[in-house]
Amino acid sequence: MGWYKKAFGAAYLNVYSHRDDKEAGKAAAVIRRAMGPLAAGSAKGGLDILDLCCGQGRYSLLLAAEGHRVVGLDLSAELLGIAGSRWESTGAGERKNPGRLSLVRADMRRIPFVSAFDLLINMFTSFGYFERDADNQAVLDSAGRALRPGGRFLIDYLNRVQVLDNLVGEDSFENGGYMVRQSRSISPDGLRVEKTVLVRGRSGEERYRESVRLFTRQEMQRMLERAGLRVEELFGDFDCSAWSPGSPRLILTGYRNG
Ligand SMILES: C[S@@+](CC[C@H](N)C(=O)[O-])C[C@H]1O[C@@H](n2cnc3c(N)ncnc32)[C@H](O)[C@@H]1O
Repeated sequence: MGWYKKAFGAAYLNVYSHRDDKEAGKAAAVIRRAMGPLAAGSAKGGLDILDLCCGQGRYSLLLAAEGHRVVGLDLSAELLGIAGSRWESTGAGERKNPGRLSLVRADMRRIPFVSAFDLLINMFTSFGYFERDADNQAVLDSAGRALRPGGRFLIDYLNRVQVLDNLVGEDSFENGGYMVRQSRSISPDGLRVEKTVLVRGRSGEERYRESVRLFTRQEMQRMLERAGLRVEELFGDFDCSAWSPGSPRLILTGYRNG
C-alpha cells in the first residue's frame, strides 16, 4: 500500500498543527502573483480554482471565502470530511458564500476534470509521493489537462538542496495530548527524503512513514514542460523572494501552453 494512504488521517493534523489557516494566509501574495494576468479578472466574479491535494482545506477555504469557485481534491476521506465541516461552520463559509466550495475524493494522478480551471495550486509538498517517476509525471500530466489553455499553476514544493543541507535526524514534541516522534533520513540512492512518524495518544499508538522524491529544480521544470506547463517564475518562499539553492521552498508558477 502506498504510504500516502496511511499518513493523512486525523493524526496528521497533530503532527503538522503549525500548518494552520494562519500559515496558509501567508501564501496570499504568492498565489496572487501566480494568477498573473488573471488577477485583475479575479476581482470580478472570481476564478475557477483547483486545490490539488487540499487536505483539511486550508487554502480552499481561504480562496472560496474570497469569492472564487474552488474544487478541493484529495484522497483522504478523513481530511476532506474535516474541510467540509470547517467550511460549513466558519462565518465566511457556506452560509455567506454558498456553492463556492466543492470537495472531491480522487487520486492526484487521475484528476476527473478537463480544461476546467483558471488556476491550480498544489501546496505544502503535495508532490513527489510516488515510487515511480512515471506516476509523479502522471500527476503533472493530469494537472495540465485539468487547466484551461492559458490557465495558471502554482506548485509549492520542497527545496532539495535545503532539505539535504538541513535534515534534522530526530525530533519529538507534545501536542494536544499526543506525543509525536519523527525520524528523517535520505534514502541510500539519495533520491528520496524518508520520515517515520510515531504518534502516541490516550487511545494508543500509530506509526506511519512519509517518503518524498527529491526532484531538482531542473527536473521539476522538465517534467512540467513535458506536461505542457510553461514555468514562468520561481520563488524561494511565500514572500515572493527569488528562488536560490538555499531557499526554504521551491515554488514554481506558470501557465498551460495555449
Ligand atoms: C502535506 S499534505 C498538504 C495538504 C494541503 N495542501 C495543505 O497545505 O494543508 C498532502 C495532502 O496530499 C493528499 N494526498 C496524498 N496522496 C494523494 C493522492 N494520491 N491523491 C490525492 N491526494 C493525495 C493527502 O491526503 C494530504 O491531504
